[in-house]
Amino acid sequence: MATTATRTTTDCLHLARRMRALEPSATLAMAARAQALAAAGVDVIDLSVGEPDFPTPAHICAAAEAAIRAGKTKYTPAAGIPALRQAVAADYARRSGIAVTPAQVVVSNGAKHSLHNAFMALLDEGDEVVVPAPYWVSYGELIKLSGAKPVLLETRIEDDFKLRPEALRAALTPRTRMLLLCSPSNPTGVVYAPEELGALADVALEADLAVIADEIYDQLVFDGRRSPSFPTLRPGLVDRTVVVAGVSKTYSMTGWRIGWTICPEPLAKAIGNLQSQETSNPSSVSQHAALAALTGPQECVAEMCRAFQKRRDLVAGRLTAIPGVRLPEIGGAFYAFFDIRSALARGRGGISTSAAWCEALLEKEHVALVAGSAFGAEGHVRMSFAASEEKLAAGLDRIARFLDA
Ligand SMILES: Cc1ncc(COP(=O)(O)O)c(C=O)c1O
Repeated sequence: MATTATRTTTDCLHLARRMRALEPSATLAMAARAQALAAAGVDVIDLSVGEPDFPTPAHICAAAEAAIRAGKTKYTPAAGIPALRQAVAADYARRSGIAVTPAQVVVSNGAKHSLHNAFMALLDEGDEVVVPAPYWVSYGELIKLSGAKPVLLETRIEDDFKLRPEALRAALTPRTRMLLLCSPSNPTGVVYAPEELGALADVALEADLAVIADEIYDQLVFDGRRSPSFPTLRPGLVDRTVVVAGVSKTYSMTGWRIGWTICPEPLAKAIGNLQSQETSNPSSVSQHAALAALTGPQECVAEMCRAFQKRRDLVAGRLTAIPGVRLPEIGGAFYAFFDIRSALARGRGGISTSAAWCEALLEKEHVALVAGSAFGAEGHVRMSFAASEEKLAAGLDRIARFLDA
């Protein structure tokens, strides 16, 4: 008879079913490989990671230092300090025109955590969530962790990778519970126009769907565009939408780990309860830094946005000039998602997938990009342009040489 004493480590530490299909983040994995090569002395240009390269603005860092000195180093309310929830509500109300109370805001450990909370709070086993592809790497995995099923809906480069309402309608089943939208988009940089979002909103209303609107890049938009918040598009959306955002991208604060959800109060209360059991509050010092970010001078955001737009011009101009390379119009965020199918079709060196192409690019030219397969769009690759113009220019030279070889 097997006793506890005779069980092997592998028996007792076998992974839970939910872990078996869980993929690690492809973008973080690629960034780790690039860092390892750089540590070994290789001149690597890492354009894999979605992280602004600017330092966090000085007044935000100063607020964090002041918070430490003032002893703001203890537990806070699980859903965030009242002043920050108030600041998030006020900032959102000012920019969207939708009145929001602090009780509708839950501050979490980054927007990724906010998304996880929203899925865990809303989704049951077997529920379906429509996710337009290409999609940000973590959506599918986070949805699966909640027990629900991501329904990945392919979009076409000819449509600028935007989900069309008829495609959404055709994907609906009796189990469809939620639509997930990300505009400006990671990984494509595409920004939906208000009328395009409005048409999707009509389907969401007709089909009684909950909507997660990932608006983490909403302030990084180019050419004078505006990226409207999803609930502003039609009456009735406020009651069915969870807006997800944070300071990571807007204020170059990725390491501080502050994001939030804005949603109807009963759901916010549930998310706060979940968080109180799972992680308690996000870092107290980071919350004070985020408060300074939202309530302090905003010129730093405009400055970073201008720099991203200039880099967008450089990257889009150079990529579109390469024969066979196609990409959609980049209206925001800091990604170029380009089509390498004509290069793959040539089959040079036996390379037939975007993952193999990225491997070879890293090996031969020491440029790190992320394969489109990680975003549900094989035949493409993602390049982050959150890097200096010098780095981008050198990276583009190497990419062009690799494609031309
Ligand atoms: C679309 C999108 N949503 C959410 C996140 C998560 O942001 P955070 O770093 O605040 O967790 C990212 C980060 O890359 C993102 O690109």
